[in-house]
Amino acid sequence: MSMTVERVSLFSRGAGVTMHGLLSARVQCVRSPWWGLPKVAGATPNANRVVRVHNADRLVHGLRLAAATPLPLLRQVADALVGEMCAGLEEEGGSDQLKMLPSYVENLPTGDEEGLFYAVDLGGTNFRVLRLHLGGKGQVLSQESKEIAIPRELMVGTGKDLFDFIANTLATFVDTEDILLDSKSNKHREAGFAFSFPVRQTSVKSGNVIQWTKGFKIDDAIGKDIVKQFQDAISRSGHDVEISALVNDTVGTLAGGRYNFQEETMIGCILGTGTNACYVERADAVKKWKEALPKSGEMVINLEWGNFRSPWLPRTFADDEVDKESVNPGDQWFEKMVSGMYLGEIVRHMLLRLAEEATLFGDTVPEKLREQQSLETKHVSKIHADISSELQTVATVLHEVLRIHDTTLEQRRIVHSLCDMVGQRGGRLAAAGLYGILKKIGRAGPNKNGFALSRQKKTTVVAMDGGLYEHHHPYRKYMEDALQELVGTNGPYEVFLRLQNDGSGIGAALLAASHSRHRQTE
Ligand code: BGC
Repeated sequence: MSMTVERVSLFSRGAGVTMHGLLSARVQCVRSPWWGLPKVAGATPNANRVVRVHNADRLVHGLRLAAATPLPLLRQVADALVGEMCAGLEEEGGSDQLKMLPSYVENLPTGDEEGLFYAVDLGGTNFRVLRLHLGGKGQVLSQESKEIAIPRELMVGTGKDLFDFIANTLATFVDTEDILLDSKSNKHREAGFAFSFPVRQTSVKSGNVIQWTKGFKIDDAIGKDIVKQFQDAISRSGHDVEISALVNDTVGTLAGGRYNFQEETMIGCILGTGTNACYVERADAVKKWKEALPKSGEMVINLEWGNFRSPWLPRTFADDEVDKESVNPGDQWFEKMVSGMYLGEIVRHMLLRLAEEATLFGDTVPEKLREQQSLETKHVSKIHADISSELQTVATVLHEVLRIHDTTLEQRRIVHSLCDMVGQRGGRLAAAGLYGILKKIGRAGPNKNGFALSRQKKTTVVAMDGGLYEHHHPYRKYMEDALQELVGTNGPYEVFLRLQNDGSGIGAALLAASHSRHRQTE
């Protein structure tokens, strides 16, 4: 049987629009050939404005339908994620979406760690170096850090240039310890390395880069041991710093969560420039693991969920555009719908289309809307958070960032609703991801006995980090509410999300401490 499938347009091409007498009799509605939106011929400026807003509203309505995240869809997304998780644990490459990378982390911090440890946190547009003085009994005696923006050319250059840059920054930072403590720079030091890109680890302190994400593209580093590259650069800087733990930022965040909160911390999740999650799995469930099982019987698995894709993901044309224009088209679909690097771009594409198809901002399309990255997620966040009656912050952002001046309240309302839609979708999809992991580890969803009420609730803590989660409040609220809806309030489970500030870096230093060669041989 053959079937013709017509690709359903994002924007519905419904019947003609009733103007509810808003337009004067002189105004004719002409169907535009492409989107079927009414155009105005010879209309008064006021009528023109009304039609523009009306057309834009129709387009927004179509987008809302395409981007909707009702609860049943979120459950489907979560189930699809669980399916991929299982396939990825079964055998290497078992899932072509989730890498399910064993982290080799056996000793999550306990609070007993003592001494001075460093961390280097490379993950987004900024990187940080940290120094942590641990005093045992869960005490952090002192903590210093320095954050530096990575020059753009280094994000797409060579491995040597990138690692020389971060090794030299680490060296300068280490030298400040000498000044502070009046010690010598040739002293041996240990550091944790939070490296927030997909890495196939070969031990707790070695691993090969699988691919780059978040705008980085350093081809000559792919397939090579990232710690060796960094360690060589540190040697070139003339310092003696040993990397004793290589961790993904999610793993660092989970470790920090264990240290600060409690052993109920089972998941680490980042919602920042990129997104990802890791969790504590039963070691015997990791079928692809061919080495001796860890004594703890547990293993921290890095999902690399940014690359999750499923037909259930509510995509719009803007997601396709963002993907096409990225340095890694076809990859990281979930990340491109959820994380901070992309939300601004998604909204920009939607606004551009509204400007082109519905002349939302007048007859000429504002130039800034055509410029990639002109609207950043921090701007979307500001717009989203504006709850004033006149949407004054929205006006300011449009004026200052996109050079769209003298906007009307209706225009601002539409811009606000797009930011809300994109933020809502991102937050709710992130919640679906977490719900999937919780189901996988038996901390949510119907258990074998159904939802039998138990007296004692089973508590799970999710350690969270990332600028999007920390600063984009409406996004965070959408996420938390959705997770609450998914997990339910009457069942035997409760889930707490805890912000683990600077989680990845601190966690990396803690893991360097808990995996320290010197500590183990003591
Ligand atoms: C990377 C992950 C990382 C996440 C959050 C993603 O792009 O692939 O390894 O954990 O960003 O930083």
